[in-house]
Amino acid sequence: MVIGGTGGIGAALVTGLRAQGFEVLALGRRTQPSLDYTDASSVDACAQHVADHLALTGLALQRLVVATGFLHGETASGQHAQPERSWQNLGADALQHSFLINAIGPALVMRHFLPLLPRQGRAVAAFLSARVGSIGDNNLGGWYAYRASKAALNQLVHTAAIELARRNKQALCVALHPGTVDTGLSQPFAKTGLQVRPTDEAARDLLAVIEALPPGSSGKFFDHKGLSIGW
Ligand SMILES: NC(=O)c1ccc[n+]([C@@H]2O[C@H](COP(=O)([O-])OP(=O)(O)OC[C@H]3O[C@@H](n4cnc5c(N)ncnc54)[C@H](OP(=O)(O)O)[C@@H]3O)[C@@H](O)[C@H]2O)c1
Repeated sequence: MVIGGTGGIGAALVTGLRAQGFEVLALGRRTQPSLDYTDASSVDACAQHVADHLALTGLALQRLVVATGFLHGETASGQHAQPERSWQNLGADALQHSFLINAIGPALVMRHFLPLLPRQGRAVAAFLSARVGSIGDNNLGGWYAYRASKAALNQLVHTAAIELARRNKQALCVALHPGTVDTGLSQPFAKTGLQVRPTDEAARDLLAVIEALPPGSSGKFFDHKGLSIGW
């Protein structure tokens, strides 16, 4: 499953997983059923849809990748949000929307989809985070809402990994940083000299990291090269 499977990196992950031979279901705001974090009940309804499909087909949910995220653009209230350069730019609406899409939505995914992972054997839940969500790595400042909401996501991932291990010792739950990737999310900020990679390359790297995650790596934060990122 790829939640956010119609986004820039998400769509490339769907293609990459299909190429690996997985049957993949992509969910997003424009899929049927649709999943929209501004409507919490849609997460529950989509999970029920997936549970029914698994029961009907006998398939197991072996990989759950959550590729949703918000950095800039229109918020649920119709206002426009930009990453903040200064505390002077902090506003409740952008903070609320960033936390809704980057932390609360994925938390609802944990609640409704992690119970669908198999109780035995290897299974991976990977949540796309961002290196800027690392507090220890924050030397530049700025981007308050995005950084803070991704830090919240990282804590949720770590916490869920502990609970998941009680259900299935071989199941892994991790946070992943995809690198800077050429999507609508990064496009306005891609001029800063960072290396921007195409989505198919980013997806290939992320899927390689997911497949290579060793036992004991659950609850941790990795970049697209498989290198550990500090919290
Ligand atoms: N691109 C980068 O350089 C970069 C760097 C670091 C981390 N990341 C992270 O990588 C992940 C994927 O980002 P991307 O670059 O692929 O961005 P993107 O193309 O803008 O995709 C964003 C995804 O979030 C989904 N989304 C937004 N609002 C939503 C809502 N209300 N309910 C449900 N889904 C919603 C979008 O769904 P729709 O398809 O329905 O619009 C889309 O699938 C994000 O977590 C991002 O923070 C990206």
